[in-house]
Amino acid sequence: MDFIKEKLGEASANLVQDNFIVGLGTGSTANFFIKSLAKRCQKGLNVKAVASSLASEKLAKELNIQIIDFVEIDKIDIYIDGADEVDFEMNMIKGLGGALLKEKILANFSKKRIFIIEKRKYKERLFSCKLPIEITPFAHLLTKRLVDNLGYNSEFRKDQKGNLFITDNKNYILDLTLKHPIEDSRKVNEDLISIPGVLETGLFIELADQILIGSESSQIEIID
Ligand code: 5RP
Repeated sequence: MDFIKEKLGEASANLVQDNFIVGLGTGSTANFFIKSLAKRCQKGLNVKAVASSLASEKLAKELNIQIIDFVEIDKIDIYIDGADEVDFEMNMIKGLGGALLKEKILANFSKKRIFIIEKRKYKERLFSCKLPIEITPFAHLLTKRLVDNLGYNSEFRKDQKGNLFITDNKNYILDLTLKHPIEDSRKVNEDLISIPGVLETGLFIELADQILIGSESSQIEIID
């Protein structure tokens, strides 16, 4: 719900300090963060930002947040993003917005990683949503076969016109249906990433320092 996302956006933007280099996540919740950050910048906060997607970059630029490129950064002070599902050990599934590769690179390089989610996304085990993986286009059918051999039902993501969805990095996304709740996230990730053609998975392990969980009461619970 938008008012929960708005609260999460405000609360996370308040964690950004002057002169920070900020990693911008992608998605509807991250958009609220970007809008709140822009408001703080209008009031004098000085930041530079690097975006995990073209969509977030566009929004930030429209709101006059200074955007820098990946090649210009050697550190990121804080990364703030949404997630699709988070388990009680702070493992996450991300990538329903298709930006998982840059999101993971940014989260990995950031000193502090904050994820902002509605309570419905916080579960004991990761299971309810599909697990996206980004794959190389030229061998996509061979890659899918190897992924399915691991026991997954996978589907190529399609865009609104029914064409294969193409990521900002010009790759494809395979969405994997999980057959049971994930017990060992590390093993699931390793098995998938070891398939040639799989560029990155949407399983984010040990990449969250803090989760802000918003609920209808407008309370924000902090897990770290
Ligand atoms: C994009 C993502 C998003 O963070 C995730 O899909 C959550 O999006 P939303 O805030 O719109 O629910 O991983 O690749």
